[in-house]
Amino acid sequence: MQLPETGIPRKTLLAEMTERKQQDADWKGARTFSLVYPASDDVDELLAEANNLYLYENALNPLRFPSLRQMELDVVSMTAGLLHAPEGHGGCMTSGGTESIVMAVLAARERAKAERGVTNPTLVAPYSAHPAFAKAAKYGGLELVQIPLDVDHRADLAAAEKLIDERTALVVGSAPNYPFGTADPIPELAAMAATRGISFHTDSCLGSFLLPFWERLGEPVPPFDFRVDGVTTMSADVHKYGYATKGASVVLHRDEEHLKKYQRFLYTGWPGGLYLSFAMAGARPAAPIAAAWAVLRYLGETGYVELARQIRDAVRGFQAGIAAIPGMRVIGEPIMSVFAFTSDSVDPFGIADRMEQRGWCLDRQNDPDAMHMMVSPRHLDVVDEFLADLREAAANGGESSDREARYS
Ligand SMILES: Cc1ncc(COP(=O)(O)O)c(C=O)c1O
Repeated sequence: MQLPETGIPRKTLLAEMTERKQQDADWKGARTFSLVYPASDDVDELLAEANNLYLYENALNPLRFPSLRQMELDVVSMTAGLLHAPEGHGGCMTSGGTESIVMAVLAARERAKAERGVTNPTLVAPYSAHPAFAKAAKYGGLELVQIPLDVDHRADLAAAEKLIDERTALVVGSAPNYPFGTADPIPELAAMAATRGISFHTDSCLGSFLLPFWERLGEPVPPFDFRVDGVTTMSADVHKYGYATKGASVVLHRDEEHLKKYQRFLYTGWPGGLYLSFAMAGARPAAPIAAAWAVLRYLGETGYVELARQIRDAVRGFQAGIAAIPGMRVIGEPIMSVFAFTSDSVDPFGIADRMEQRGWCLDRQNDPDAMHMMVSPRHLDVVDEFLADLREAAANGGESSDREARYS
């Protein structure tokens, strides 16, 4: 496309965009299971208004926009409270889980260099850890060392013990991980790191805004947050189960000094004046900060518990229905609302294809071949319809016609 010679009227453009959007995933109808985390219509309306109020501001310079600065501090503080960060913690908002993870990895690299003289650092992370860690290792010049998984699809502790050494800058565990929704043994991994003076990161991008409320519902939640000794940093995505619109995550440090010494970027070596920033972005959109602040305060604890209850009930329905289909099973023991399931008798990708023909977007994954679900509150309304289609797909599904192309 070339820039049009003359401008196109607003009405025409909006009509074109609405038309183009018809091709996109139907997340409002609860037919997708990843990428969007819808809560309810009233939350959607609030998010639109909060975004609109801060469309133009720039969060790069907090002195110019003190209201934004305070909102960021408030979001960090609310998140730190949920995750039991102790007095003296520090943190900032980023554009998403990946940026939070990249910052935690880079800060750990700097700390390992400053405190232990590590110049050829490794990043030790479970095989199931999010690709953001591989990305951070690539950009940050660390070698990624993967901990194999045990039979329960959690990081294998005996293997981890052998892989952590004097070069290790950061050890990672997820609560939960994306592929299986299982939690790594965080206390044991964090202890292995702490005894050697190594940083430990809990990736709870998915879990931070659901596990605390899962716990309030009386569901079992394994130790994963700052109550675990040795956890030095955490990533928490408000734009996942916090229900904020995209572009909102928090990276937290147990010790604010680490944030200041190893993450903060302060620069005066140019004529443009003092430049200060805490993460990758320079100019930063204000709307995601405002939306995150608004939705956290709009829902409050009781709102999040109620949404967690809806998710829990939907998960129970989905998982019981899956287990009742001959040959089909959930993989491992997922700790909340994210899980993979497969079939031992029918090609799982063939089932996913058939489900897609009926409008259900199920992600596919491998090792083992499986379908993937991330359940959000709106899915409670579609459990029966989904399971009826799944039973039909399992009974009539065959080989996936184009495995490679369908793989996502
Ligand atoms: C466990 C986990 N960590 C990190 C991320 C990365 O988050 P983002 O996509 O916001 O960068 C994801 C994304 O799904 C995730 O599931």
